[in-house]
Amino acid sequence: MTDLKYSDVTPREDFLNRRRFVAAMAVGGGSIAAGLAPSISSAAIDAVPSIYSTDEELTPLEAITTYNNYYEFGTGKDDAAKRAGGLTTKPWSVVIDGMVNNPGTYDLEDILKDVTLEERIYRLRCVEAWSMVVPWIGFELGTLIARADPTPGARYVAFETLFRPEEMPGQSSRLLEWPYREGLRLDEAMHPLTILATGLYGEELPNQNGAPLRLVVPWKYGFKSIKAIVRMTLTEEEPPTTWNMQSPREYGFYSNVNPEVHHPRWSQASERPVGKGFFAKRKPTLMFNGYAEEVASLYDGMDLRQNY
Ligand code: MTE
Repeated sequence: MTDLKYSDVTPREDFLNRRRFVAAMAVGGGSIAAGLAPSISSAAIDAVPSIYSTDEELTPLEAITTYNNYYEFGTGKDDAAKRAGGLTTKPWSVVIDGMVNNPGTYDLEDILKDVTLEERIYRLRCVEAWSMVVPWIGFELGTLIARADPTPGARYVAFETLFRPEEMPGQSSRLLEWPYREGLRLDEAMHPLTILATGLYGEELPNQNGAPLRLVVPWKYGFKSIKAIVRMTLTEEEPPTTWNMQSPREYGFYSNVNPEVHHPRWSQASERPVGKGFFAKRKPTLMFNGYAEEVASLYDGMDLRQNY
């Protein structure tokens, strides 16, 4: 098994294939499965890309990796592409704590060796005032949370980004209250459309997009997708989130994509597709960014104007 390190394989597709090979061996029942979690079904092994992938045209790699929001590196859209290259992303670990039976420091290499956390390709829409379709590589956040085993009272997950001002120059300013924080209700976090991304376009995640581990919640505005995650804390109370702390009137906890609820300073009814030139025609934004069928039931009975 020593040849199966996450770090020593490129390109990324090869790595995915090799991990599936290991999973296939595990199903075959050979001794190679020793030490790996059991119960991988052959259906799961074939499930790349994810069933949630859209057929819509992908945004070019160049646009995805040069038009970013990552305030740890500045507020300009090209600041992260210029400055994030120096961030050390290996080794990396994530603390999972709070209301879980298995708290601890989870090493990312170990997380990615676990075949029950099978990575898939997720071609997902992302929306802010602009929109993109990104072919992420990632795995279900819910599978990792299940490994930490939440206790019955846990209702929310709080996420935190790395705080390392020596490598993240924006953290020396008071632009935001650091570290960057986000949160989800536990049922949102456990939904199979909520992923932790480790790559895009078949390669490891570029630093400007949140390497080595970043949240993707495609039915919420892009700012929920916290980058460079180092901590997840299961809580009973709704956790504070960076943009809500910064400007509560403009950014609520839920931040579900909703073309009917305007941001106080702009309409959210339409979006500008990125990578097609600045004058590309705007598109109407869809409720839950087009994922209503999958996620609307999470909000049954809730007033989404109040809970924005
Ligand atoms: N995560 C951290 N740690 N810091 C940030 O400034 N910006 C958010 C989100 N995650 C941000 C972050 C915002 S506002 C958006 S729109 C998305 O990242 C942008 O992701 P992208 O650059 O990969 O498109």
